[in-house]
Amino acid sequence: MAHPLSPDWLDVPRDANALHQGVWPRSSARADNGGLSFGGVSAEELVAEYGSPLYVVDQAELSERAKNFRDIVQEACERNNTTGSVYYASKALITGHVAQWISAAGLGFDVASGGEMAIALAGGAPAGRLEFQGNNKSEGEIRSALEAGVACIVIDAPIEAQRINAIAAELGLVASVMIRVNTGVHAETHEYLATAREDQKFGLSPEETTALVQDIRGMGHLTFEGLHSHIGSQIFQVEGFVEAATRLMELYLAVIPRHERATLNLGGGFGIAYTEADRPGDLAGIVGQIIDHVGSLARAAGVAVPHLAFEPGRMISGPAGVTLYSVGVTKPVKVHDDDGLEATRLYVSVDGGMSDNARTALYKATYSARIASRESHSEPALVRVVGKHCESGDIVVDAEYLPGDVAPGDIVAVPATGAYCYSLSSNYNALGRPPMVAVHEGGHHLMVAGETVDDILARDRGVSRQPGS
Ligand SMILES: Cc1ncc(COP(=O)(O)O)c(C=O)c1O
Repeated sequence: MAHPLSPDWLDVPRDANALHQGVWPRSSARADNGGLSFGGVSAEELVAEYGSPLYVVDQAELSERAKNFRDIVQEACERNNTTGSVYYASKALITGHVAQWISAAGLGFDVASGGEMAIALAGGAPAGRLEFQGNNKSEGEIRSALEAGVACIVIDAPIEAQRINAIAAELGLVASVMIRVNTGVHAETHEYLATAREDQKFGLSPEETTALVQDIRGMGHLTFEGLHSHIGSQIFQVEGFVEAATRLMELYLAVIPRHERATLNLGGGFGIAYTEADRPGDLAGIVGQIIDHVGSLARAAGVAVPHLAFEPGRMISGPAGVTLYSVGVTKPVKVHDDDGLEATRLYVSVDGGMSDNARTALYKATYSARIASRESHSEPALVRVVGKHCESGDIVVDAEYLPGDVAPGDIVAVPATGAYCYSLSSNYNALGRPPMVAVHEGGHHLMVAGETVDDILARDRGVSRQPGS
């Protein structure tokens, strides 16, 4: 029977050791001793070597997801007589290794700051495959992007067109630019994730866009590449994308001369499964429908089908990541449900929390978990996996059934943490960010070293010895 404090979507598992398909990296497996392994490497071995918390990234999972997205776009574009590009959204997760794997898979990069751009370039991403975004790019960032030779800058406000034009003139070059359009489409998502609503900071209205395209055409150091929209994140249904494409295509037909082919960039936002309850639609079907839709609108208008671009982030890196934690404390907490009935929730405190995964606290995101160091057949108990920070909202997994004998010393694994966990991490309570390790074909290697308290102290000029002092 379901626990009275359990959310409706969470079923009591027949086996609280089982791994839900689509939530965990495909290489995840239980060994004979019951422990979990990823990419052929056991969780216990990883924690013994690198400590916990630990971000684990399955290299093959990430690379294959990137290639799969590229292939889906390419195939759908070919059948519509056009071409397509995929820019991986670096904000989801960018490190030198990720940049290498994404480049090798043939994708470009959407970078949203000078820092993301620097990591992508340092990791070997070709500058000509970078697209620079953001609603407040500094002049320094614009200059670095143009000097590096990025493929395109996505303009988010008219003043940016003037800034980019002036800097391009100084550098003696012509900058390719697009305009981010606020299509007004409300994606089916959490409010804070919706980035194409009317009352928010991103993009320009269709009317403002039309006027800005004219201005850009009159600027000697800009060349206009096309239109961009991003309607939100963690979207499962195709309708929002199709509606945004319809609105963007209307604008495209109004601003692009009929004999020209420009770019329509429809952003990212493709949803993934964080728990058994998440059922994302078939990716090839969703992306294919969007591209076919643009194709049929273009054919109906008698123009060439635009070059199409997408910016998936979490769809590529999210399911490739698992975070490993060590359990320090377990505590049954008696609470009363909505009907006043007393029930017990087992709090499982781990050695990380909102500093390595802010999404639950920030967006009420849902996650799942399993004991990774052993198998247990004790009765499933409803647990809440919490961190060690001084906030009652410091929750990693709000509700999950784990074997009821979960205990201090167990390693707990939380899947689907490859996107927006490391990139949103902090030093709250002076915890160092965890290390990140890649697993691949039975081997493992460090991707990013963990931060230590010494690293934190070294930046603090009130306590650290200055160089030479
Ligand atoms: C402009 C833009 N493109 C792409 C993305 C990637 O979104 P997702 O990781 O949901 O695919 C984002 C996310 O915020 C974004 O703002």
